[in-house]
Amino acid sequence: MLIAGNWKMNTNVAAATKLAADVVNRVGDQERVGVGVCPPSVSLLAVGSVLRGSSVRLGAQNMHHADHGAFTGEVAASMLRSVGCTYVILGHSERRQYFFETDEAVGAKVRQALSHNLVPIVCVGERLEERRGGSERSIVRGQLYGALEGATISVPDRLVVAYEPVWAIGTGETATPDQAQDMHAFIRELLASRFGPATAAGIQILYGGSMKAANARALLGQNDVDGGLIGGASLSGESFAAIVAAANDSQGA
Ligand code: PGA
Repeated sequence: MLIAGNWKMNTNVAAATKLAADVVNRVGDQERVGVGVCPPSVSLLAVGSVLRGSSVRLGAQNMHHADHGAFTGEVAASMLRSVGCTYVILGHSERRQYFFETDEAVGAKVRQALSHNLVPIVCVGERLEERRGGSERSIVRGQLYGALEGATISVPDRLVVAYEPVWAIGTGETATPDQAQDMHAFIRELLASRFGPATAAGIQILYGGSMKAANARALLGQNDVDGGLIGGASLSGESFAAIVAAANDSQGA
């Protein structure tokens, strides 16, 4: 199980370190459930020092695919490594929608992250009209194969996939546990055809989209749901810790 908080463009450095300290306080001494937080990049260094010595890992929300160079405003994989990042979220639907990231661009970032020993959290997910039109599987297949183009992984824990139906992100509407399980099982099949069944079985597939304490147990109880990527509910230590507790329960079940 992995519960990762995506803080998006929220918190300044002071608020981020405070939230990180609260998360460490609440869940930083348990190791049964993997926990990560992804603050805005200006706070990575400060949050990383708060996390040091705890089991909570650091992640970034985006990066550029090049090693370095004239890319004003961008951040490279080696920079993320230098501040202690384990994870990097790639291909989030907000990046695709507002910053026009294509599957090809996401694929280049994933290869770059892997080559720098960052674990990409690759986001895929259909829009409402695509689900209504019945094309959700082909959309997710295209996004996943695009993101994994040319990618190789030695062991399953080098890669995390997050299924985030766009219609559920920040809307308060979640996929039902059955809808999530159905898509996660499909993603697992796609991963199996790409990396072989043994590797696919070990890759963590997270659900994201309005996950909170009240619905986490039912979602995390599904066979192929291996954790959550949490937006809004990760901005309070209390609600984030409640989701980690739900993950702990469903792992023990
Ligand atoms: P949400 O965001 O939990 O606020 O819906 C999830 C995400 O976008 O990663």
